[in-house]
Amino acid sequence: MPARPPVALVTGAGVRVGAAIARALSAAGYRVAAHHLHHRPRGFAAALPADLSLPGGPDALAAAFRARFDRLDLLVHSAGAFEERPLRRIDARAFDAQLDLNARAPLLLTRALAPLLSRARGAVVNVADIGGGLVAWPRYAAYCASKAALVRITECLALELAPRVRVNAVAPGTVLWPEGYPATRRRALARRIPLRRAGTPADVAAAVLYLAGAPYVTGVVLPVDGGRRLSGRGGD
Ligand SMILES: NC(=O)c1ccc[n+]([C@@H]2O[C@H](COP(=O)([O-])OP(=O)(O)OC[C@H]3O[C@@H](n4cnc5c(N)ncnc54)[C@H](OP(=O)(O)O)[C@@H]3O)[C@@H](O)[C@H]2O)c1
Repeated sequence: MPARPPVALVTGAGVRVGAAIARALSAAGYRVAAHHLHHRPRGFAAALPADLSLPGGPDALAAAFRARFDRLDLLVHSAGAFEERPLRRIDARAFDAQLDLNARAPLLLTRALAPLLSRARGAVVNVADIGGGLVAWPRYAAYCASKAALVRITECLALELAPRVRVNAVAPGTVLWPEGYPATRRRALARRIPLRRAGTPADVAAAVLYLAGAPYVTGVVLPVDGGRRLSGRGGD
């Protein structure tokens, strides 16, 4: 740890997985700048709103961050959109929406903050998904394409920003169910997971903390999925 507390920016930090990551980083000694759209996080060093689906959203967030902080040790991209869209219901708007938020925004935000990360010899952790990131799912072609893109962006930027900045990803399996997800589908899915349960946001936060502090690890995609990626045909 540096003499001054390290600073982390976490996107989507107001709810669910992003909130768990932000809390874990805070507990580990980071000053956390907590990004949000609708759900303002409380109890962190700063709460920074931005719509990251807009082309200018990442630059606006980077400017707001720089106005409050002069260093950045860790950038975590957790904001995302998850939409089930069978092929017959995919259109250009739906496809672009997944790609814009899940892949373009992390790329542009990393670009905007790369000088600060480089100065601190910092790290980036992208929150991908086993769906698209590691395996294919039916009915989620756009979502899977966005997470596949995020994984490849992780690898490209690991090369491009080395040796000063490390860039890694976590690929969670299900760690929080979408609202209204049917109990029968939950049980069926849990049976396919080798560790026989869904994960928790704390499982993802622990993996982010590991990657944040692993000085010789870059360009990896760390599954946090109870082994689910190994157990045959996926689906959510
Ligand atoms: N839940 C899981 O089991 C699971 C599994 C694998 C991967 N993941 C990944 O983990 C990440 C978090 O998942 P989650 O389930 O916690 O997410 P979620 O409940 O769907 O929440 C979405 C997050 O993204 C933010 N967001 C949505 N639209 C935005 C926009 N246009 N601009 C900026 N921020 C926006 C939301 O901010 P506000 O709430 O402030 O509006 C919220 O923090 C995602 O990248 C997801 O793909 C989750």
